Amino acid sequence: MKYLTIALAKGRLARNTMDLLEKIGINCDEMKDEHTRKLIFVNESLKLKFFLAKAGDVPTYVEYGAADIGVVGKDTILEEGRKLLEVADLNMGKCRMCVCGPSSAVELLQHHEMIRVASKYPNIAKDYFYNKKHQTVEIIKLNGSVELAPIVGLSEVIVDIVETGTTLKENGLEVLEEICPLSARMVVNQVSMKMENDRIMKLINDLKTVL
Ligand code: PRP
Repeated sequence: MKYLTIALAKGRLARNTMDLLEKIGINCDEMKDEHTRKLIFVNESLKLKFFLAKAGDVPTYVEYGAADIGVVGKDTILEEGRKLLEVADLNMGKCRMCVCGPSSAVELLQHHEMIRVASKYPNIAKDYFYNKKHQTVEIIKLNGSVELAPIVGLSEVIVDIVETGTTLKENGLEVLEEICPLSARMVVNQVSMKMENDRIMKLINDLKTVL
């Protein structure tokens, strides 16, 4: 039997995914070692391979078939825009993609002003402003701590993830518009879904019983 390969987004999401998989009898003890620097882990008896990738790269591994299955946030799936089958909402890491800024920016949004939008998610921001709102804006790509941008005058608003809202609150910003809800999703390579349909569907169905 061929190995089924599962790409996980390094960090908390990978740990939570393994906890979920354990509930359906899929485990990988060597991944539990907190000090390991290994990136690939094997469960020989189940013929499963897991690997840990940067979240933003998980859709790439899955689209190219280097991984049959991936687990990654909906934010990353939307931003990367890869050809994938999204097969399950894992109901973990729930948060929202929002347009945020100071309350004074509400008017700029309402009047469709030409504003600057800073984001770690330029494709999501572009799609929202250009295709949904039909508002021309300038998108500025940042790599993190995006809340800084409106405070220091780099942009009028940001497009970012809001979970508890604490980061916004502590920096005098607020949610101005909601773009979409987010959570962790399971994605599958299109060819793998055909070639390994029985094994993959069993995995998905087993997961759905514990979700
Ligand atoms: C994320 C996100 C927000 C924050 C939202 O940032 O970009 O900044 O979490 O969470 P909250 O609503 O619970 O405060 P992350 O911690 O990933 O760091 P980053 O800003 O450097 O990307």
